[in-house]
Amino acid sequence: MEQNCNSWIADALIQWYATHKRELPWRDINDPYRIWISEIILQQTRVNQGYEYYLRFVERFPSVKILAEAAEDEVLKYWQGLGYYSRARNLHKAAKHIESAFGGVFPENYSDVLSLSGVGAYTAAAICSFAYNQPYAVVDGNVYRVLSRLFAISTPIYSALGKKEFAALAQELLDKKQPGLYNQAIMDFGALFCTPASPRCWECPLQPGCEAYRAKSPERFPVKENKTKVSNRYFNYLYIRCEDNIYLRKRSEGDIWAGLYEFPLIESEGALLAPEALLTHSEFRDLFGDLDVELVRISSSLKHKLSHRLVEAQLVSIRIASESDLLKTYLCIPCSRLSEYPVSRLISLLLEKNRLLPDLFK
Ligand code: ADE
Ligand code: SF4
Repeated sequence: MEQNCNSWIADALIQWYATHKRELPWRDINDPYRIWISEIILQQTRVNQGYEYYLRFVERFPSVKILAEAAEDEVLKYWQGLGYYSRARNLHKAAKHIESAFGGVFPENYSDVLSLSGVGAYTAAAICSFAYNQPYAVVDGNVYRVLSRLFAISTPIYSALGKKEFAALAQELLDKKQPGLYNQAIMDFGALFCTPASPRCWECPLQPGCEAYRAKSPERFPVKENKTKVSNRYFNYLYIRCEDNIYLRKRSEGDIWAGLYEFPLIESEGALLAPEALLTHSEFRDLFGDLDVELVRISSSLKHKLSHRLVEAQLVSIRIASESDLLKTYLCIPCSRLSEYPVSRLISLLLEKNRLLPDLFK
């Protein structure tokens, strides 16, 4: 079974942890209340910064009952400076809920824990495994990093598929006999050893089985979803006339326009090309060399939304006196036959907008 062939990973992590763990006040305790408070603080706060807050908080509010009975203002006061104050309001609200719905006893059942305000899958797994040794694997940023490297998994970690895939893998690797210990071990291993930049692969106990190490690319993992960044593209289409002919080509790249026809295209960076920039552009010179080129006009530009990009395009009318060998990779067709060729919506809009159609089809 896979469980067995991967169990050396849990053993190695636990062994590493035994000698390298950080001693922290919320560790090696089994009070679910304190573990809960620490995990809520550590959700968005680094251990160093959260440390003192944790100590002051549990000193003033040492139990669910005392927290539930406190005024919200005072709870917030103890949170002051930590940020994300909804965490403190949720703690207070959950404490009151534990008082009223669970008789003041911190719930043990995973789904009851998960039902508390401010508690998500990660925090519920942390509480249930650390406090009660229940077999729920934690999946936090450290775990994503360690697992994606060990198995060279390229699925974006925060995608729907990635969350499912990593949750299943984490659960499979979990040491079911000592889930609390294992969870702490893998989190500390990620935080201290298999770090985002410069992991210490050369002395890593997991190295013999690490796919990312084998591929010499630990820093490529984890893969994060490409933030659908709207980067604009700039297309300068060349409407090249040679007597009554124009040049076209069939787009073969495996993109959304594959199979459609288009004019010779020069893509530019950052902006459309002005006449001078165009005439000196290397791709322009590759097309025309020393040929006598008349730049007739540059159309007004058109903005076109394309999946999650904005394309800005212009049509550059050029006249050449004789056919160019340099253009021989393009089709040379009579202007009058352009309408027989399928073109992208962008090109037909560009032609329409610039009133080139009547001219073209005459
Ligand atoms: N970050 C989140 N939970 C933690 C814990 N229990 N120990 C150290 N760092 C953590
Ligand atoms: Fe992380 Fe490197 Fe160890 Fe792989 S070999 S688990 S990348 S530290």
